[in-house]
Amino acid sequence: MSPRTGTQSLLQVRGLTKTFSGITAVNRLDLDVEAGSIVGLIGPNGSGKSTTIDCITGFTPADGGRVLFDGADVSRKSPEALAELGMVRTFQNVRIYEGMSVLDNLVVAARSLRRYPWWEQVVSSRRVSRLEHDLRQEALGHLDLVGIGKYADAPTGILSYGQRKLVAFAMCLMGKPKLIILDEPLAGVNPTVIRRISELIDELNGLGQTFLMIEHNVDFIMRHCAKVVVLEQGQLLTEGPPAAIRTDPRVLEAYLGDYAAHSVEALNA
Ligand SMILES: Nc1ncnc2c1ncn2[C@@H]1O[C@H](COP(=O)(O)OP(=O)(O)OP(=O)(O)O)[C@@H](O)[C@H]1O
Ligand SMILES: [Mg+2]
Repeated sequence: MSPRTGTQSLLQVRGLTKTFSGITAVNRLDLDVEAGSIVGLIGPNGSGKSTTIDCITGFTPADGGRVLFDGADVSRKSPEALAELGMVRTFQNVRIYEGMSVLDNLVVAARSLRRYPWWEQVVSSRRVSRLEHDLRQEALGHLDLVGIGKYADAPTGILSYGQRKLVAFAMCLMGKPKLIILDEPLAGVNPTVIRRISELIDELNGLGQTFLMIEHNVDFIMRHCAKVVVLEQGQLLTEGPPAAIRTDPRVLEAYLGDYAAHSVEALNA
């Protein structure tokens, strides 16, 4: 349970700390993501947002603290083990295999989550081919959902930056994750793709999907998130519903500044 909200937390981070050669990037951070919610993580450049999710998802070893996911301590788990448990992420800089087809990128991502026992591969190649067929069907469904189904067989290298972001999003959907963590899903994408990602997040959240997302597009964060967590120099500055965050003087000073003064209309839209 989250001590602050009294609701069930899917992700609980306690005292997370990470130092890089003398710079404390994340400093004793507590963070809760409640099941079924969308939580936004915001803060100035260099405030430790990406490092926080790198530590949570096992891509960077934390120096201290604990990560609990779905009731289990997962503090020392690898990214692959966490993905198998249902915690997946995208990266600030999209990571996909350019030489592979779009569809194969999704299949490869999912294959690593479903290890076939060796005896199945020897005894029942038919069963393995059926699983592969199912994976391809699932991948096609996700590519259609994000709106790039027609590129399924194209080499990923020909896609635009925004389309690659959609591929990364579709990759996250493979295997029905419990928690999707997005690092700047909108950075560098055009308004049409922003709208598509926005609709997808709403649609999926309506079906119960939980999200933790970092994003500098504050309108987007304020519109989607039930709770916004604000970092400053690796520490929790404050957290709360958008209405409280956008008027919090500490947040205005540390981060929102001009945004708050000029986007009241956007926030009320
Ligand atoms: N691998 C690394 N080695 C050394 N320092 C690092 C490393 N990764 C991050 N840092 C430092 O940790 C601090 C936090 O960086 P981080 O990337 O987490 O910030 P951020 O909030 O994601 O910023 P942005 O909004 O620019 O993406 C910065 O001072 C950064 O220079
Ligand atoms: Mg970052």
